Amino acid sequence: MWKITYRIRRQKGDEASHYDTFQVEVDPEEYVLDGIEKIWAFEDRSLTFRHACHHSTCGACGMRVNGVEKLTCITKIKDVTQDGGTLTVDPLRNFPVVSDLVVDLGPLYRKMEAVHAPPVHPLSMTPWEGEDIRPPKEVPTPPEGGEYIRLPDCLECGICISACPVAASDPDYLGPAPLAAIQIQGLEGHPELLALADSQQGVWRCHSAFECSAVCPSSVDPGWRIMDLRRQVTARRLKTIIG
Ligand code: SF4
Ligand code: FES
Repeated sequence: MWKITYRIRRQKGDEASHYDTFQVEVDPEEYVLDGIEKIWAFEDRSLTFRHACHHSTCGACGMRVNGVEKLTCITKIKDVTQDGGTLTVDPLRNFPVVSDLVVDLGPLYRKMEAVHAPPVHPLSMTPWEGEDIRPPKEVPTPPEGGEYIRLPDCLECGICISACPVAASDPDYLGPAPLAAIQIQGLEGHPELLALADSQQGVWRCHSAFECSAVCPSSVDPGWRIMDLRRQVTARRLKTIIG
């Protein structure tokens, strides 16, 4: 067994954030999430974190581990620290913190809905200013005459948004997963998607950093999809000019 230190960012309500440290005995083959669960079970029942499936399917356990976005249920402790080492765990960036390691993924869900790919099982959605509380919808209903899709393999975990340097500076930027959802649908017959993709908050805001693809725990490759969508938008612009 290894003895390691978890350094966990804590924040409740409007209070300033700080780090709490916990010494934990772990099997190096265990996962980062296992250690967090031990802390909750034996050290501090007020620690808030989110998890469900424990096998990289639900997308609930996304956090930053030593500064890098990870699904903590599939991140082995031995791959991110050593015996006697420290694991710093932070909530995802670019989302409001609800409590400790839990963020509100509502901004991502709203953008996915705007591009016709809403999450089927939203994990949380606190109201934005001026909005009514919207209860999670079991089965999203598309607008009349419209159609909803799923972005294949996307866990709606928000990890790509957390890693995106543009999302960090512009909360209105659509971001990797929503732009990937437009790319998968194509622009033909979707003027509303073309308008979103070809806008200030669309493909032109991307800096091609590919941080999203580097951290995506699934096979979505949002960075490549954004580049392909940019190609599609450019082709449409040229077609309009040339006729
Ligand atoms: S594209 Fe990848 S990182 Fe982004 S929400 Fe989907 S699964 Fe998560
Ligand atoms: S707990 Fe479901 S993806 Fe990690």
